Amino acid sequence: MVFLVLLLCVPLSWSQEVVPTFRVDLQPPEDLQRQAVVERNVITSWITMPVDHFDPHNSDTFQMRFMYNEDYFGGDGYPVFIMVGGEWNIAEGWLRGGNMFHMAVENQGYQIYTEHRYYGETLPYTNFTTENLRFLNVDQALADLAYFIKELKKQPRFANSKIILYGGSYAGNMVLWFKQRYPHLVVGGVASSAPILAEIDFTGYLEVVHDAFLSEGGEQCIATITQGIQDTVAAMETEAGRRSLEAAYRLCAPLDYDDKFTLGYFSGLITWRFSGVTQTAAPGRIINICNNFATNVYGETPMQKIGGFIAAEAGLLTCWSMTFQMLILTYSLNNNNRAWYYQTCTEYGYFQNAPSSGTVFDALKWLDVEFYAEVCKVAFHPRFDEAFLFDAAKRVNTMFGGLHPDVNNTINIHGTIDPWHVLGVHDRDLKESSPTFTVPRASHCFDMQNWLTTDTIQMTQVKQNTRRLVARWLSD
Ligand SMILES: *[C@@H]1O[C@H](CO)[C@@H](O)[C@H](O)[C@H]1NC(C)=O
Ligand SMILES: *[C@@H]1O[C@H](CO)[C@@H](O)[C@H](O)[C@H]1NC(C)=O
Repeated sequence: MVFLVLLLCVPLSWSQEVVPTFRVDLQPPEDLQRQAVVERNVITSWITMPVDHFDPHNSDTFQMRFMYNEDYFGGDGYPVFIMVGGEWNIAEGWLRGGNMFHMAVENQGYQIYTEHRYYGETLPYTNFTTENLRFLNVDQALADLAYFIKELKKQPRFANSKIILYGGSYAGNMVLWFKQRYPHLVVGGVASSAPILAEIDFTGYLEVVHDAFLSEGGEQCIATITQGIQDTVAAMETEAGRRSLEAAYRLCAPLDYDDKFTLGYFSGLITWRFSGVTQTAAPGRIINICNNFATNVYGETPMQKIGGFIAAEAGLLTCWSMTFQMLILTYSLNNNNRAWYYQTCTEYGYFQNAPSSGTVFDALKWLDVEFYAEVCKVAFHPRFDEAFLFDAAKRVNTMFGGLHPDVNNTINIHGTIDPWHVLGVHDRDLKESSPTFTVPRASHCFDMQNWLTTDTIQMTQVKQNTRRLVARWLSD
């Protein structure tokens, strides 16, 4: 029987082609959900929310999801800690462990996790037509949070509670922007890895990925990757080269080599794995990959090494299916992926374009603004062209101040190998009351985690400083 099941299952999964993603989205690590923790009481609830906070003529509402843990709440006068949700589904883990959880325990706080509109189960509309997505923007999402806090404070047990926000990644932006826009509603906030500058041509991302591989893996690793990518681009020029490229990268079918958007997508396949590894790297991780390049674990030639690395990291069982049409299809479903792409077209850009010089990725010239804009145009509306994108980012930077927000009582944390840190303020305090902590060799949102044995001494210090400062805001 066992053999029968195996025989049935294996060919089935092998017959599936895989449509890869091509960029790494912002998202804090979710390790806590898999961690064995003592079961604690996290409860899910819902609140009725206006669809449009800024138009009194519109009385439509939707249900916003949130979770809470009141196990440690001291009662009247004790604080409320809100973990701000971003472009993902909320989950119980962050109310059962992590840096905010420990702060809440220390200060006898009530803990809440709010879900961002249009993500998870918080759906003003279930059909994500471009028309229906017009209420998806950070202005509405911040107003949701303001409305939520006002409703919460109506309960007598929270009337005297101070509110602290914590958020990572895009939700880190939300923390800084909320404190700036609604300073009367919260006493302070912790923003982890917040890329507060909207940027369309974001070549800085891959520059940090390059720097991380250089500083962790050294010149030899960089030479291998450079050669592998240059050989890949050269291979596109001949029929024999193309066949060896398709084999090295495990492609299901030849690429459309005449279509620059398909080549943009293929370029994204290459950068995406290096990006993903860097954005989530625990100390030692990148060194390990460079060792694998050196000892031919992924393949023999430089091009085979790159293709093998991507397949191994992704756990690919079959082959990559790479047409631009299939990429667009992945953005046509009513899910988080489509909602976030919409926000990048209409607010942030964050397009991880190939730099033109100085990095291992320079040869991947098809990964440019035109490529990302084409996805915006086809997935949403022909009007979403390059000029539209640049205007959108300009609007966000005007509204919130770009790299110069005017905000008191926030803590702004970054890691030097997190590719997103270059869109945040990482080299100065925002203000005397809003310090910045930048942690060497740390990646995206790592301060949000539990205290780990793999933490560097600098990371431990930053977590301690954060907790001390939050305790001080609460005692003032
Ligand atoms: C969403 O709306 C569009 C346009 O009105 C319609 O064509 C489509 O069938 C709808 N999709 C779903 C899943 O309801
Ligand atoms: C920040 O705090 C300082 C000192 O209390 C105050 O003068 C300033 O107006 C505050 N700024 C904002 C934006 O709240």
